[in-house]
Amino acid sequence: MINEVKKLWPELEWIKDDDLRNKTTQTWVLALERSVLSPEDLQNIPFTLLIPDLKISFMTHKRAVVHIARESGKKINEFFKNDLPLNMDVLISGAILADVGKLLEYEIVEGKTRQGNYGKYLRHPFSGVSLAEECGVPAEVCHIIASHANEGDLVKRSTEAYIVHHADFMTFLPFKNRLEV
Ligand SMILES: [Fe+2]
Repeated sequence: MINEVKKLWPELEWIKDDDLRNKTTQTWVLALERSVLSPEDLQNIPFTLLIPDLKISFMTHKRAVVHIARESGKKINEFFKNDLPLNMDVLISGAILADVGKLLEYEIVEGKTRQGNYGKYLRHPFSGVSLAEECGVPAEVCHIIASHANEGDLVKRSTEAYIVHHADFMTFLPFKNRLEV
């Protein structure tokens, strides 16, 4: 499974710290072992169940969020330097793990993916933290998973968590509801 995770996520190589890269990888391995979804499913299912007839796949969206978060982090470092410090490894790991809990949210009924009972009780920010902590992922990364979605509006976000939150929502909201003229 570890090689399949590395194939799904070439961006893991961007994490410089060996320990954090391994724990981030391991969290995805664990999620896939416990999920009804296969690595291949992730390349095919739509990235959200909230938008009908969506063609963008789960992996395309998740990887886009990681790329946008990384580029944003680089620009913030370049323009604000020590006035707004951020940790690129934490940012990238958090972006890769933000939606890992979604793998436990789904069930497949008659060939169709839908939210299962576990996912109704524990949305992916919660199940994601649970999986990541099991793999020893540190608190500053779990914080990003916990606060990336709407639930996180009640939390004081770190700089890295703000970036992942906005990278995620800027690539979700226009698909869901945008001004078209
Ligand atoms: Fe999410």
